[in-house]
Amino acid sequence: MNRNDAERIKKVFQSDSKVLITTSYNFTPKAVELAKHLSEEYGIPYYNRRHLNEKIREGSVDFYYVIDNNLDLSIRLGDTRLFFHPGISKIRMENFKREGRDFLFDAIRPSSGDIVYDGTFGLGMDAIFMAHFVEKVIGTEVSTHIYRIVSYGLKSYKSKENWINSAIAKIELYNEDMKEFISHQQERSFDIVYCDPMFENPIYESSSLNPLRPFAKYDTINDDVVRELMRIAKKRVVIKSLERDNLLDTLSIKFDRVLLSRKNGLVFACIDLDK
Ligand SMILES: C[S@@+](CC[C@H](N)C(=O)[O-])C[C@H]1O[C@@H](n2cnc3c(N)ncnc32)[C@H](O)[C@@H]1O
Repeated sequence: MNRNDAERIKKVFQSDSKVLITTSYNFTPKAVELAKHLSEEYGIPYYNRRHLNEKIREGSVDFYYVIDNNLDLSIRLGDTRLFFHPGISKIRMENFKREGRDFLFDAIRPSSGDIVYDGTFGLGMDAIFMAHFVEKVIGTEVSTHIYRIVSYGLKSYKSKENWINSAIAKIELYNEDMKEFISHQQERSFDIVYCDPMFENPIYESSSLNPLRPFAKYDTINDDVVRELMRIAKKRVVIKSLERDNLLDTLSIKFDRVLLSRKNGLVFACIDLDK
C-alpha cells in the first residue's frame, strides 16, 4: 500500500459504509451460526458467501466481515485483510530479550504493579508488550470496526508463546473515544498513560498497521489533551510519534525525555511525573 492507495481508501469511509458479515466459501455450520450471531450483535446483515459476489457487483458492499472455519474474524476490503495478531509485540519481545533494551520499555519504565492506560489501542501490539511487565492495561479504541476485530481476537487468540496469552489476559478494551474517556477519569487513576495517534507521514512500505489504516480515526492531540493525560497519570505520560512528523513541535508542553530510535525514526516523548 502506498500513500495514494491509503488516501483513496480513507475516502471510502467518509460516507456511511455498506457492511455485511459472511463466512468462507466452503463454510461449516458452526461458522454460519457464529456469523449470524455476530450479525445480530453488530447490527449488520448476514449474507451467504456464495451470493457475495452478486452483492459486490451491485455495488452494495464497501467491505465485509468474515468468520472463517477456524472461527477467526477478519474484515476484507479489496486486497486488505484486517485481523488480530500480536505482530510487532513478538518481535519487540525477541529484540528485548536479545539486546536487553527496547525503546517502548525504556520510555514507560514499567513496574509489576502498574496500571497502564493505552488511549489509542489500534491492534494492541504495543499494549501486549507493555502488559507483560505490568499488572493491567486498559485501552480505548474509537473505531468500532477495529474494536470489534481486536476485542474478538483478544478473547479467542491462543499463542504458542505463553507470555502473549498471559499479557492478553491482563488487557481490558473499550470502544470509546480517548478524549471522552479521559474526561471522566479521576486524577492519578493510572500509573502510566500512553498515546500513539496515527502518524502524519507513515512508512507505508513496512508498516504492520497498513490493514488498519482504512478503518482508523485520524485524530490528533493538542496541549489541552496532553494536560488531561497528565492529570490522570501518576508516574508518566508517553506519546509516540515519528521523527519526521510535526506532532511534538505543535505541543508547547515540556518533555522530560525524548527517546529516538534511529533505526525506524520512532520517537517516544515522556513526561515523568515521578521525578
Ligand atoms: C497508530 S494506531 C495505534 C497502534 C497501537 N499502538 C498498536 O500497537 O497497535 C492509532 C489508533 O488510535 C485510534 N484512535 C485515533 N484517535 C482516537 C481517539 N480519539 N480515541 C481512541 N482511539 C483513537 C485509531 O483508530 C487507531 O486505531
